[in-house]
Amino acid sequence: MINIVLFGKPGAGKGTQAEFLKEKYNLTHLSTGDIFRFNIKNDTDLGKLAKTYMDKGDLVPDEVTIQMLQSEVDKNPQSAGFLFDGFPRTLAQADALDQFLASKGQSITATVALEADDNILVARLLERGKTSGRPDDQDEEKIRNRYDEYNQKTAQLMDYYKAQGKFHAVDGIGTIAEVTERLTAVFDTF
Ligand code: AP5
Repeated sequence: MINIVLFGKPGAGKGTQAEFLKEKYNLTHLSTGDIFRFNIKNDTDLGKLAKTYMDKGDLVPDEVTIQMLQSEVDKNPQSAGFLFDGFPRTLAQADALDQFLASKGQSITATVALEADDNILVARLLERGKTSGRPDDQDEEKIRNRYDEYNQKTAQLMDYYKAQGKFHAVDGIGTIAEVTERLTAVFDTF
């Protein structure tokens, strides 16, 4: 069983690459952003709460996000492994994930980060915002706020996983196929 954290700044390509990786490696893909958006679309209490944060580009509070993620893992008891996309995003989330997996006799196998220059990523998101309808992609101020959140709360997780010898970086610039090839080369080592 392998459990992988797919890591990267907003727009790095986590969701795009996860679609391929989950099939190739038979992993259950859990994207916290997608789960929140599903709840917003269905007007659940969780969705209403998450929307107040997501629309501004702020992180949803840890306790809400951690509980949601754990419940999604528990919905997949037969899973051969998980591909975590957009989680963890804070040290509290990383610590909770480690403890939660340990309680099941599991652990994170590796964290794989997609690396790319901020300006390229902002351009990608502004382009997607034209057609996706994602409120947090609509203007540069919200996108920049997501980067501020990343820099203040998420970037430190690289050191957290490096200290465990579990951090791998992959160049996220190039065509989608080129990035997939680089990721596959790393995933094949797990
Ligand atoms: P989330 O949905 O996770 O958004 P994000 O991290 O900002 O990630 P994106 O989906 O924007 O980017 P991505 O890296 O998946 O790239 P993608 O493949 O889509 O989170 C949204 C919000 O939810 C957060 O801001 C927060 O409020 C909340 N949230 C989520 N998780 C949370 C957590 N753990 N704790 C608290 N709050 C949480 O690609 C982006 C675009 O680029 C696409 O248009 C794609 O087609 C294009 N693209 C991809 N690869 C390439 C390439 N190689 N070349 C050119 N274009 C490319």
